[in-house]
Amino acid sequence: MQIDLTVNGKRVSLEAEPRLLLAHALRDRLNLTGTHIGCDTSSCGACTVLLDGVSVKSCTVFAVQAAGQEVTTIEGIGNAAELHPMQEAFWSSHGLQCGYCTTGMIVSAVDLLRRNPDPSDDEIRAGLEGNLCRCTGYENIVKAVRVAGKAMRDGAPRHSVAELMPIHPPVEEPPPSGEGIIPPQLQEANR
Ligand code: FES
Ligand code: FES
Repeated sequence: MQIDLTVNGKRVSLEAEPRLLLAHALRDRLNLTGTHIGCDTSSCGACTVLLDGVSVKSCTVFAVQAAGQEVTTIEGIGNAAELHPMQEAFWSSHGLQCGYCTTGMIVSAVDLLRRNPDPSDDEIRAGLEGNLCRCTGYENIVKAVRVAGKAMRDGAPRHSVAELMPIHPPVEEPPPSGEGIIPPQLQEANR
């Protein structure tokens, strides 16, 4: 069947079988691959998007259920030219490692701050309990939400990636040889 919806502010028409999941429609039909699929069983939250402003796990929603509604994915939250404060805070607070959970985590956190602009750490943890991270240990994720909340309450200006590069430079990869990290005598022994 044909469905019409709004995705990241643009009207979209899709041919959708009734069983097509919203997560698959976004990724496979609209090429919005920032929405990740980590489990397909409603456990991990990697697929979180906003549906009419409320966070949902898009692997638990059929595309046809989104007909007539407004979907916001991580691509609609912010972009390289103008990061959302939550995206900047995850960057500056080192709230990610592999990044697989991060897009869903950010979308959930945006919804959390919409409902509670100044959450305590316990409220942040409770608000993100549907989002699992296998890497970070969560401390820096909680910190990032705290930092973003303050920036949003203060009305801090938004930044582009280019503006932030000198402030949060990328971590330099060690040279493949281990030079500068592994003592020369051990480098020799490792060859
Ligand atoms: Fe949707 Fe894990 S992929 S909750
Ligand atoms: Fe790797 Fe969260 S940063 S799963």
